[in-house]
Amino acid sequence: MSTSEKSKKTRVQFATRLGVIATTVGSAVGLGNIWRFPYEAGTHGGGAFMLCYIFFIFIIGVPVICAEFLMGRGTRSNIFGAYRKLAPKGKWFYAGYMGILASILILSFYSVVAGWTLEYFVQSVSGSLDLASMEEYHARFDEFSTGNWRPVLWTLIFLTLNFLILVRGVTKGIERMSNILMPVLFVILLIFCINSLTLPGAGEGLRFLFHPDFSKIDSGVMLGAMGQAFFSLSLGLGCMTTYASYFSDSTRLAKSAVITASLDTAVAFLAGIVIFPAVFTFGFSPAAGPTLVFEVLPSIFHSLPLGAVWSSLFFFLLLLASLTSTISMSEISIAFFVEEKKMSRRSATVLNTGLAAVFGVLCALSFGCLGDFKLFGLTVFNLFDYVSSNILLPIGGMITSIFVGWFVDRRFVRDQLTDFGSFRLKMLGVIVFCLRYVAPVCILLVFLNSIGLIQL
Ligand code: TRP
Repeated sequence: MSTSEKSKKTRVQFATRLGVIATTVGSAVGLGNIWRFPYEAGTHGGGAFMLCYIFFIFIIGVPVICAEFLMGRGTRSNIFGAYRKLAPKGKWFYAGYMGILASILILSFYSVVAGWTLEYFVQSVSGSLDLASMEEYHARFDEFSTGNWRPVLWTLIFLTLNFLILVRGVTKGIERMSNILMPVLFVILLIFCINSLTLPGAGEGLRFLFHPDFSKIDSGVMLGAMGQAFFSLSLGLGCMTTYASYFSDSTRLAKSAVITASLDTAVAFLAGIVIFPAVFTFGFSPAAGPTLVFEVLPSIFHSLPLGAVWSSLFFFLLLLASLTSTISMSEISIAFFVEEKKMSRRSATVLNTGLAAVFGVLCALSFGCLGDFKLFGLTVFNLFDYVSSNILLPIGGMITSIFVGWFVDRRFVRDQLTDFGSFRLKMLGVIVFCLRYVAPVCILLVFLNSIGLIQL
């Protein structure tokens, strides 16, 4: 039996087509859509950001998802193994180290925000989140996030939940949960959307989000939109490669990539349509940054009948959506420790959680007692967020697209994308063209532009 046959036999696979979509969408949809997207769009001028975002999602994001998918399914390996099998003599696998570093940095600050979700879930259930004014919601969040022990405790509780699901293995935990969860979250967001559209600030909110002011498109907006596109699609560090290694041979990769990107974008847009009308109605500043959503959402729930019920339900679902995302990012380093370093799954999971816990505590404290500790003018939390999303993920994406576009055997790419020629894929040429030229060049230009070497 060849190695690849052997690894096929021993690796689990997702049971159904729905399982594939649900798990990749489960990875993609999370705090990135509901917390990060609105705050990034808000700080980067709304419409201008949206325009760049859509461009990056479909012109760079979709081809790079295809590339990650085909590397994973074709080799049935984690990101390291995939680079090694496809280029045994190359040094490409070093990119895998970057992926592992970035995945742990992201897991750390992500767990802090997921911890905020836990706190707000508990406050909703206990009824203590029902406040009277926007100022009070602002003060409430400020008081909570700058405190030293509660945010830390919630970060650690969240990481423990993540740990418990991970040690149970891939298919059971993740697949079952995402299948039920994602559609419910979608419906709830739709309901909130309808509510937000009836608010007095709806017109202003929608104009902010959908009316691009071209003069606002600068290097920061472009870099922010590119980072957000990678972050939201879980791209650039081998997450989709790791997941695709569990796909069955008949999964249609390009179609799954388009579905994943479209659903992910739909959820982000819904979140934007929920948040921005409320921002303008209640008098928040759209550019408030990472805390925006945690102040605006409770104000929305407050204005709804049965507000506490909606609020509890929403924060619970957001928590689960965060878990399906953190599971996917943890899986990158766990698969690496297990398959490359021959650790047991349990030790690998302990190591992953331990590292994220140490960094996560630093991130949580950076809103409180470590607030004045800054590197390059950023707190630990903001630094981790900025470096991983805006730098490491796009670099990872660039390496992936160059690798698959130029160095992987053309036949391998074609076979993976067309199920060994079992159907015609009209997009094939476009995907390969984007991987070879469009994605690497665009990413490079955005980088050069943001460090001031060129002016776009
Ligand atoms: N995409 C997820 C979100 O939007 C976060 C995420 C999960 C992620 N896995 C990732 C981001 C891998 C970057 C890389 O919430």
